[in-house]
Amino acid sequence: MRILVVYGSKRGGTAGLAAMIGSALESADVIADVTPASTVRSLEGYDAVIVGGAVYMHRWHKDARRFVRRHAAELAALPVWLFSSGPLDDSATRGVIEPVEQAKQAMRQCHARGHMTFGGRLSPYVRGFAAGAMAKQMAGDWRDRTHVNRWVREILGQPGRPARPADPLTRAAPQRAPAMPTARAAVR
Ligand SMILES: Cc1cc2nc3c(=O)[nH]c(=O)nc-3n(C[C@H](O)[C@H](O)[C@H](O)COP(=O)(O)O)c2cc1C
Repeated sequence: MRILVVYGSKRGGTAGLAAMIGSALESADVIADVTPASTVRSLEGYDAVIVGGAVYMHRWHKDARRFVRRHAAELAALPVWLFSSGPLDDSATRGVIEPVEQAKQAMRQCHARGHMTFGGRLSPYVRGFAAGAMAKQMAGDWRDRTHVNRWVREILGQPGRPARPADPLTRAAPQRAPAMPTARAAVR
């Protein structure tokens, strides 16, 4: 099984979450290609797609939005999950945080199976007026690998859409044990 993980990230935090997702998939013997959303031209050869976006001022990163809009038709025919990053505290690990409106809209556009909000990251040395002001109060790294691993296990075990017999996750979900001989996560 081959899964594409794409992201829209301004300062690298969401890119790091996408890489964690890629590693978690690789640990489950899934081939994962992790790449910025803006670089992808085709979804050919992928069995599922994960799209992540940083949240700024309640807006989902534009590269993630554009990716979903541009590939909506192809995505609608694949299992798709979205994720967002994220709160600069531990709230994402304490409870489920609803996607922002733009991410909800993207979920509708591509018939996504689910969404997860992960904690975010903000450097204390960040540039920019708004970000700098925020960093004085909230700088830190709230990305949680355990949270990411749990979510990846969840989506790999999620029962598929029964109406689509060609859906690879539908076939794989109930008896996910056979390990593939090799696994590869390409973090570009
Ligand atoms: C100016 C600014 C506004 C932000 N607004 C939000 C927000 O509305 N909701 C949220 O959950 N996080 C917000 N954050 C936190 C970012 O989403 C978090 O830092 C995220 O990890 C950034 O991802 P990136 O490093 O990939 O750009 C904001 C951060 C900054 C600096």
